[in-house]
Amino acid sequence: MDLTPHRPADDDPNPLNRLTLDQLRLRTSMKWRTYPDDVLPLWVAEMDVPLAEPVVRAVTDAIALGDTGYPAGTAYAEALAGFARERWGWDGLAVERTAIVPDVMLGVVEMLKLVSGPGDAVVVNCPVYPPFYPFVEHMDRRVVEAPLGAHLRLDLDALEDAFRRAVAGGRRATYLLCSPHNPTGTVHTADELAAVAALADRHGVRVVADEIHAPLVAPGTVFTPYLSVPGAESGLSLMSASKGWNLAGLKAALAIAGPAAADDLARLPEEVGHGPSHIGVIAHTAALRDGGDWLDALLGGLDDNRALLAGLLARELPGVRYRPGPATFLAWLDCRALGLGDDPAAVFLDRGRVALNSGLPFGTGGAGHVRLNLGTSPEVLIEAGTADGGPPSSEGRPPKPLRVSRSDR
Ligand SMILES: Cc1ncc(COP(=O)(O)O)c(C=O)c1O
Repeated sequence: MDLTPHRPADDDPNPLNRLTLDQLRLRTSMKWRTYPDDVLPLWVAEMDVPLAEPVVRAVTDAIALGDTGYPAGTAYAEALAGFARERWGWDGLAVERTAIVPDVMLGVVEMLKLVSGPGDAVVVNCPVYPPFYPFVEHMDRRVVEAPLGAHLRLDLDALEDAFRRAVAGGRRATYLLCSPHNPTGTVHTADELAAVAALADRHGVRVVADEIHAPLVAPGTVFTPYLSVPGAESGLSLMSASKGWNLAGLKAALAIAGPAAADDLARLPEEVGHGPSHIGVIAHTAALRDGGDWLDALLGGLDDNRALLAGLLARELPGVRYRPGPATFLAWLDCRALGLGDDPAAVFLDRGRVALNSGLPFGTGGAGHVRLNLGTSPEVLIEAGTADGGPPSSEGRPPKPLRVSRSDR
């Protein structure tokens, strides 16, 4: 394992290695402003990358032109359809069965409103992206958990059991599938998804797939869009360029209906289209249409970071279990063997001055776990993960104290 910190440089082909910590600390977003400056933030799903050049150009041109009105047209959906064809070999994304929504989570809420009513159940695979719980509960639906199974993969028996509970009493039910899965980075196979579709059909459960992390799948692993599998015709999907190209601040996402869900999507209230930002649509469109090279460089960098993290953990905290998933920029770390209690993130923050996501809000299975954001430079990862006595940072500061040094445990 190469633990020599390579100083980020603005001409590095890897976008994760272009910005220095000093530059990043100038940012005003949640990742950088929630904790004091002596904390390394490796938590919320923002990446430490500059924007892809095609995105910068498209947004800069729009601003220069004063093109800051309301969104119009289908360019975003067309760009996604082209991306889906090229990357996933999927020709079935029909532009006429899409709608622009403000972001993925608001899109999820709107899709759930289309296919369920108050008091109905929404099945999720815990541990899972924490907002699934409050967003569902605030719209007066009930969360029913179907825990992930062996190797952090879908457990069809648990899913069937959850479907049975969800539809008990003749209620409508929805399955909110996270694909690829946050926080584990699991990529569901075509067979698994076809089995999901068959199971949902058998129990009369509607499927809403959150596929926001779809562009972030490592080379060599196949991403299967849910709507592309047999039996998924009544499904709904949410996709966006926001995670892949770090555009969360430029609001825009797409809702996509399978052929048998077109009538549902057509009932989407007009006011939902009032939320997306025109500049957001321009940015997302440029990313999907012209941001492929940038994305490929990012995916290579993320693969390197997964290996780097695995090496750092093996050396510094061998009690931590990390099963790198091939998608997302997130790492799900099982810290139970460290004896740090249910919320190791609190200890890492307090003693190590590294901010990770606590596993607790990820639902059942989250206790004793943390989520670490790998979307950063190798230098920052090394600094976060290196014990006292490790290599100094390139900026000549003394090494960061280990999150929890060996003597602390
Ligand atoms: C699975 C998942 N869904 C949705 C979101 C949020 O997306 P948006 O900002 O478009 O609502 C995230 C953000 O990290 C996510 O990981």
